[in-house]
Amino acid sequence: MSRLENRIVLVSGGASGIGAATARLVVREGGKAVLADRDETKGRALADELGDGASFVPLDVTDEAAWARAVAGTVERFGAVHGLLNAAGVGVRNSIEDCTLAEYRRINDINALGTFLGCKAVLPAMKRSGGGSIVNISSVLGLRGASYAMAYCASKGAVRLLTKHVALHCAQMKYDIRCNSVHPGYIDTPMIAPRLDQTIGNMSGRQWLEELHPLGRLGRAEEVAAMILFLLSDESAFSTGSEFVCDGGLTA
Ligand SMILES: NC(=O)c1ccc[n+]([C@@H]2O[C@H](COP(=O)([O-])OP(=O)(O)OC[C@H]3O[C@@H](n4cnc5c(N)ncnc54)[C@H](O)[C@@H]3O)[C@@H](O)[C@H]2O)c1
Repeated sequence: MSRLENRIVLVSGGASGIGAATARLVVREGGKAVLADRDETKGRALADELGDGASFVPLDVTDEAAWARAVAGTVERFGAVHGLLNAAGVGVRNSIEDCTLAEYRRINDINALGTFLGCKAVLPAMKRSGGGSIVNISSVLGLRGASYAMAYCASKGAVRLLTKHVALHCAQMKYDIRCNSVHPGYIDTPMIAPRLDQTIGNMSGRQWLEELHPLGRLGRAEEVAAMILFLLSDESAFSTGSEFVCDGGLTA
């Protein structure tokens, strides 16, 4: 028996990195993945590669009407929606002194407000589908601060507590919809690629980031996707409102 047989999962940020790795796993485990991303070229290419088990919808997660179209498109294509992965996100380095208002808004609009809009947009269709599971990607930087990532930490901390509200609300309303957050350490995806070639002291950016993790390496998108698959499936049926850390020991 496949772990996501006939489950339909909408994946924001599905064109790249952790979202793309999760879409691949969903299809491999018998489910259907709808890749939703602002990168239409990469998103359509991956959906084509995955074949009948996948499709693509264009989505800017900061646009409420686009979310409505993405959810409607998912139901139109596959008949229901049982899972939502909010993986779209952007990272940027800044401090309280150098972050502009426009930059703070941009990061929080994509990472935090985008996750709010995703959860809100999917609930009516998920209820009609008989329940489901929402997974929001926060970060280790949603659990603790960093001197170099003010707006990112603020946005990911918001995702962490938004998740708990959605979980408690759905439980109280008896919707049979769970919602959990995932907190990755540094994962080798296009998001952090620009940092790997930088020099920090006498180290490359890659070495510096690797050494933050007691396991001594970066994580792989597939390793985070495996945790997300667990959360999307019934194997995690008694987990809601919880934080799932995948960080090579970074926060231990
Ligand atoms: N890579 C890491 O080290 C790391 C660590 C912790 C958390 N995360 C989080 O994991 C999630 C996935 O990141 P990733 O590492 O796979 O990065 P990635 O850059 O490979 O993928 C992010 C995707 O989000 C899409 N996206 C960005 N803004 C969007 C918007 N406004 N609307 C729609 N799509 C948009 C991009 O087009 C891209 O396809 C993000 O939320 C990120 O903050 C990543």
